[in-house]
Amino acid sequence: MSEKWTPSSWRGKPIVQVPDYPDPDALAAVEARLATYPPLVFAGEARKLKGQLGDVAGGRAFLLQGGDCAESFAEHGADNIRDFFRAFLQMAVVMTYGAKSPVVKVGRIAGQFAKPRSGPVESQGGKELPSYRGDIINAIEFDEASRLPDPMRQEMAYRQSAATLNLLRAFAQGGFANLDHVHEWMLGFVADSPQAERYREMADRISETVAFMRAVGINPDTAPTLRQTDFFTSHEALLLGYEQALTRIDSTTGDWYATSGHMIWIGDRTRQPDHAHVEFARGVKNPLGVKCGPSSNPDELIRLIDILNPDNEPGRLTLIARFGAGKVGDHLPALIRAVEAEGRSVVWSCDPMHGNTIKAASGFKTRPFDLVLREVAEFFAIHEAEGTYAGGVHIEMTGKNVTECTGGARAISDDDLSDRYHTHCDPRLNADQALELAFLVAERLKKERSGEAVKIAAGL
Ligand code: PEP
Ligand code: CO
Repeated sequence: MSEKWTPSSWRGKPIVQVPDYPDPDALAAVEARLATYPPLVFAGEARKLKGQLGDVAGGRAFLLQGGDCAESFAEHGADNIRDFFRAFLQMAVVMTYGAKSPVVKVGRIAGQFAKPRSGPVESQGGKELPSYRGDIINAIEFDEASRLPDPMRQEMAYRQSAATLNLLRAFAQGGFANLDHVHEWMLGFVADSPQAERYREMADRISETVAFMRAVGINPDTAPTLRQTDFFTSHEALLLGYEQALTRIDSTTGDWYATSGHMIWIGDRTRQPDHAHVEFARGVKNPLGVKCGPSSNPDELIRLIDILNPDNEPGRLTLIARFGAGKVGDHLPALIRAVEAEGRSVVWSCDPMHGNTIKAASGFKTRPFDLVLREVAEFFAIHEAEGTYAGGVHIEMTGKNVTECTGGARAISDDDLSDRYHTHCDPRLNADQALELAFLVAERLKKERSGEAVKIAAGL
């Protein structure tokens, strides 16, 4: 029998990656206030996402999850949100076409503020200060006052999340997501891309499909599904005091939900089965993610699944593999086999970002686009070999034309990194790189589908 869960039962467990707040009373006061604020998302929406992820688990849909590594207070403008959403929708359209199935859209946004760090302190020029842990905790500037954890930041993050979500809801439902617009943007990308030839065929096919639909009377005026889209939010549930304050009982079911975002995930550094982050997550009914890095092992994974999805509910649990290009084959097959042997329903998603971070000669942290693509290709190939479904991708991206990851069709070099390196944490794909990745995933999905068609035709 497992012990009783409450929104605060995590407080009795070991925990890592917690900030050292200098004034516990001030922290408690902020958490008490947050607990009285309106929820950011509703339980019914989280259930809807779980249903869609259940389709991914069953091989009937594909998951696209992406956004900032860390949202920041400084970059909270309408333009940033719009540009992200535009790039994300373009990716989704391309992938929908490739997969010939729905793409479940989940942003790393409207709550993605708290960051796990490799060490508690950071040194610069012989000086040592607490690490930056995300804008919800402290500030990135390298001075003592900025790095002191300040609980008031939790209220700022809450309000920023509410405003971001408000705009995203308007974009998703108010006409911005109109398929005709998204298609035109995508054509603009293809026309400008140095790799235009490579993408032209798929873009032309999508154009033909849209034209055909219009000819038979299916257009955004007649079919509301072409005018609007479902879009969900997600973040790493790292700062548990904040999460607890936003955990509420759903009046229709009596179940507890995290209302800070639709989906929450547990990071690679905080997935110890007997620790606080897993304890918190097990009690809320939202869809959950767990990052699986090179230190994951099959026994621990099954234990985690036992704790987090004891009823084997499809869509409840997404395993986000992040091993690094060249290392997927060393780790993923054993995890897949354990999950299959135990008959567990999960979504397998690929995060090709966090295992591929390197330090460039220029000193910037970067991710070579080639390695990102290679990890995705390895992920697909392994699932094909194991006979399991590669269900999604999880990426760090922005809609802006930043220079943070090297490579891509526009060949960003080490020397270019300093031009527009804006991230508060890890390097993100820019809009072009993100769409290029979408085309490559779509090609892969198309191949997978046609392979399936061949197998069905052959009676296999
Ligand atoms: C992240 O997603 O930003 C992150 C820190 O990932 P991971 O837990 O996989 O290292
Ligand atoms: Co990151």
